[in-house]
Amino acid sequence: MDAEHMGDALERVLLTEEEILAGLDRMAREIAADYEGKDVLMVGVLKGAVMVVSDLMRAMPYSVPMDWMAISSYGSGTRSSGVVRILKDLDTDITDRHVLVVEDVIDSGLTLSWILENLELRGAASVEVATLLRKPEAQKVEIDAKYVGFDIPNDFVVGYGLDFDERFRNLRCVGTLAPHMYS
Ligand code: PRP
Repeated sequence: MDAEHMGDALERVLLTEEEILAGLDRMAREIAADYEGKDVLMVGVLKGAVMVVSDLMRAMPYSVPMDWMAISSYGSGTRSSGVVRILKDLDTDITDRHVLVVEDVIDSGLTLSWILENLELRGAASVEVATLLRKPEAQKVEIDAKYVGFDIPNDFVVGYGLDFDERFRNLRCVGTLAPHMYS
């Protein structure tokens, strides 16, 4: 769906589809140069990263395998502790592999901090992060993301994989949700 299909649910477009794809192209060029000859595995975090992984890997100039993890927090009360459980684990043994975790957004950073710790314990050769979006004002824990598409304000954003109550993931752009939708 496009911004005009959102009606008054969308406050404003933050990034157009063209801007997103240009950002991913730039990231893919950096990633491709850094991992040339290294057999990198892209690990997407479901569900938000679906669009990012599919466009980022298609922007790569050589073959890159993908794998997926799905995780869940135990509830809003424990979210701040970063406690999550694995709903779907990797199919791949990452021992001695170069892993690139791909996210749609780093908000508080708690999800990624848990994932990174978990993956590093499995003996990966390296674990780095690529995220399309990052909200510097919202970060509670420091995440050293090597590849970042865009820093954005701490607003409620939807589209390109990001949802509001599972809605709007299929919006082509990234936009700010109108406050009347959640207040
Ligand atoms: C979103 C996003 C990240 C996480 C970022 O996932 O995809 O994984 O939140 O937030 P944090 O930095 O505060 O931890 P969400 O749990 O909403 O699930 P989804 O990907 O299925 O939308």
